Amino acid sequence: VTITPGGLVRHQLCPVDDVAVGQMRSFAIGSRAILLIRRKDGAFRALSNECTHGEAALDEGDLLVDECLIECPLHGGRFDFDTGEAVEEPAEIPLAVYTVEVVDDVIHVLL
Ligand code: FES
Repeated sequence: VTITPGGLVRHQLCPVDDVAVGQMRSFAIGSRAILLIRRKDGAFRALSNECTHGEAALDEGDLLVDECLIECPLHGGRFDFDTGEAVEEPAEIPLAVYTVEVVDDVIHVLL
């Protein structure tokens, strides 16, 4: 664990090769549930894995990688996985988005 100059903590998630393009994976860091998504262009995004509408884990939903959306498995709310914005009701509150850093081919998230 490393503390960044901004006071955030850098947490190691997994090697880059463990998440294929167009795939997602969930991680628990302390009490936080993190959703890691690999975009079509190979870049990574990290967001909260908890739907802001109800008790649902987003990694159990559908990843719409062409549209850059994640769809909640419970009521079908959708979020933009680049910005966290809720773009389809009943979801209205955005997801938290976290900074991802790749160091020596290992993915890290700053919390
Ligand atoms: S719990 Fe996710 S849309 Fe309702």
